[in-house]
Amino acid sequence: MHGADDGRERTSVCVIPIDELPDGLIVTDGFGRVLAVNRAAVRLTGVSVERAVGKDMDEVFPFRDHDGRDWWKALDPDGGLRTRSRVPERPLHLPGGQEVYVAARLIREPARGGDVARVAITLRDGGARARLERSRADLVSTVAHELRSPLTSVKGFTATLLARWPRFTDEQKLVMLETVNNDADRVTRLITELLDVSRIESGRLELHRQVVDVPARARRVIAGRVAAGEPEDRFRLVAGPDLPEMWLDQDKVDQILGNLIENAVRHGRGTVTIDIQSVGWGAAVSVRDEGEGIEPELAPRVFRQFWRGNSRRRGGTGLGLFIVKGLVEAHGGTITVQRAPEGGAEFRFTVPTGTPDFA
Ligand SMILES: Nc1ncnc2c1ncn2[C@@H]1O[C@H](COP(=O)(O)OP(=O)(O)O)[C@@H](O)[C@H]1O
Ligand SMILES: [Mg+2]
Repeated sequence: MHGADDGRERTSVCVIPIDELPDGLIVTDGFGRVLAVNRAAVRLTGVSVERAVGKDMDEVFPFRDHDGRDWWKALDPDGGLRTRSRVPERPLHLPGGQEVYVAARLIREPARGGDVARVAITLRDGGARARLERSRADLVSTVAHELRSPLTSVKGFTATLLARWPRFTDEQKLVMLETVNNDADRVTRLITELLDVSRIESGRLELHRQVVDVPARARRVIAGRVAAGEPEDRFRLVAGPDLPEMWLDQDKVDQILGNLIENAVRHGRGTVTIDIQSVGWGAAVSVRDEGEGIEPELAPRVFRQFWRGNSRRRGGTGLGLFIVKGLVEAHGGTITVQRAPEGGAEFRFTVPTGTPDFA
């Protein structure tokens, strides 16, 4: 039946036991009697081979859709167009069971327009996909929420100013405009960060490597904070001897240091120490402060998107550390957080020396 006589190209045949397939497989005859069930299908449905083989499909595998409709009955292998062979994948469940993605193929004899001789049904675990979809939906709703709050404030202040302009003093107007200005900055920052997040998640982050003087970059970030009004003695830079030549992406190094130093200033307290040491194969950079630090049990969470601990009011987006981790990892490095000797938070990342792009 697979010969060249049915007009199809002969495909190379490789026999693999159905138990080796990653997806669940159920095969029935044209009357819906189960002929075979593989191991993955047993795992996904909880129905043993002994219980299934020889029985009717709708008796042992009563798949239902979300509206409770009987999938097998709706599938109706005998009915419908005689050319129909593909049954698209759908999320279904067994009574009391988890979600599985089910697709099927009606195998006809003869291949075109014949009676259904067998039905091959594949099953895939729905849990992982549902979780992914849920986390995407969560992301969309978080982003929408994050964008809405500054925009609500922008809209509120501009509408008030437009409606009652003459009634406000210059000073009141100035305060309102400053708020609008800050909120607009916040939206811009959020969007820039979201674009970084999307590049990290899709693996589209590109590195343009060059020789980077890490201590000099840290000095520059500190100078920026000082220019913005932070007292100079709040920062301490320690750079060890014999730092190897580091081939990194300079803008991304600035972004990593900028984020960690900003966090230490904003979420921490006291002196912020930036310590850069050689580890032979690369550099280890630690940014620590003397604030409250991060509880060890919360440490795994700080690198997640939108995680802000209890500092929701401090204006951050909760994306900073997620991006920092993505940037460090893109360089082949790792980042961890622990309690600093002085009691605050200590973020420590290591990056290998790297090689020029053309190497
Ligand atoms: N140096 C620090 N000291 C204490 N908590 C910190 C420090 N750095 C980060 N955190 C905590 O981790 C959270 C996530 O940081 P981040 O991803 O940079 O987001 P954001 O700074 O926008 O809030 C912060 O909201 C804060 O609760
Ligand atoms: Mg931050």
